[in-house]
Amino acid sequence: MATGAAGVVLITGASSGIGEAMAREYARRGWKTVLLARRVERIAALAQALGGDGHSLAVACDVTHDGDCEAAVARAVEVFGGLDVVIANAGFGVDGTFDQLSLDDVRRQFETNVYGVMRTAKAALPALARSKGCFVAIGSVAAFVPAPASMAYNMSKACVTSFCDGLRTEWAMKGISVTHVAPGFIESEIRRVDRQGSFKESRKETVPSWLLMPAMTAARKIADAVARRDDELILTLHGKFGVAMARHAPALTRAIFRLAAPRVGSRKARDA
Ligand SMILES: NC(=O)c1ccc[n+]([C@@H]2O[C@H](COP(=O)([O-])OP(=O)(O)OC[C@H]3O[C@@H](n4cnc5c(N)ncnc54)[C@H](OP(=O)(O)O)[C@@H]3O)[C@@H](O)[C@H]2O)c1
Repeated sequence: MATGAAGVVLITGASSGIGEAMAREYARRGWKTVLLARRVERIAALAQALGGDGHSLAVACDVTHDGDCEAAVARAVEVFGGLDVVIANAGFGVDGTFDQLSLDDVRRQFETNVYGVMRTAKAALPALARSKGCFVAIGSVAAFVPAPASMAYNMSKACVTSFCDGLRTEWAMKGISVTHVAPGFIESEIRRVDRQGSFKESRKETVPSWLLMPAMTAARKIADAVARRDDELILTLHGKFGVAMARHAPALTRAIFRLAAPRVGSRKARDA
């Protein structure tokens, strides 16, 4: 597949934030879009905005439910004939210190952020093998830096990094590329979602606006990296700095986060 040419893209978690922005970006590039999420009314409205029938398809999908991803892929193939790019984007954050978290909290985090990505990949494999397409997983800079009071999320994203590294090697033989995206702070609803995974209107964005990359900028950079079949994309300047520091000066990184933990950690733990 010539990834620069327009094709069919499937995106999990397309009802807000980075997923919605990627749907808009691919549609702008002339791609057909398959939008997956639990909040069906949101993706149905987005599919209409992106051209409706023949251009965009909304399919209800909870990535924690076995069978949902398979059913969504089958529907996409039935309607559009195949898939060229599949983006495992659905995710959320379980905040809280280890003391505050139950093992059920951690399991819930892994069900979406880790098993959800694997369910998406398993479901997409036959279609991507046919198209020699691209699999994309949205991880996080949190996989690399020990951000306080986010251990469950950090661990889940480290799994995504590791999963992509393994999958890239295995799927190269099938002609499928694997792009791992590690964003820093991007404009989205993620910090307004509670530990159970539900969006809360009353919650406010906690990251200052000057530190947030607009979601459409992130989406454009992701689509460009996928078209080049890049292995890895780290987003935001602070994200690149954090990952470079973690990779090249790990002891310094640990020291900085130990110093930051009492302030950042206690605020996040209080809000969790
Ligand atoms: N924004 C950031 O600063 C940032 C930084 C690093 C990494 N990330 C990652 O980027 C990805 C997208 O997050 P976002 O920032 O765009 O947050 P967001 O605006 O909250 O979007 C999250 C999306 O995931 C979907 N989702 C959550 N649980 C799901 C489930 N069980 N099944 C299906 N869909 C589910 C949500 O849709 P429904 O609720 O409708 O199902 C929503 O569309 C996540 O993997 C996140 O970890 C974000």
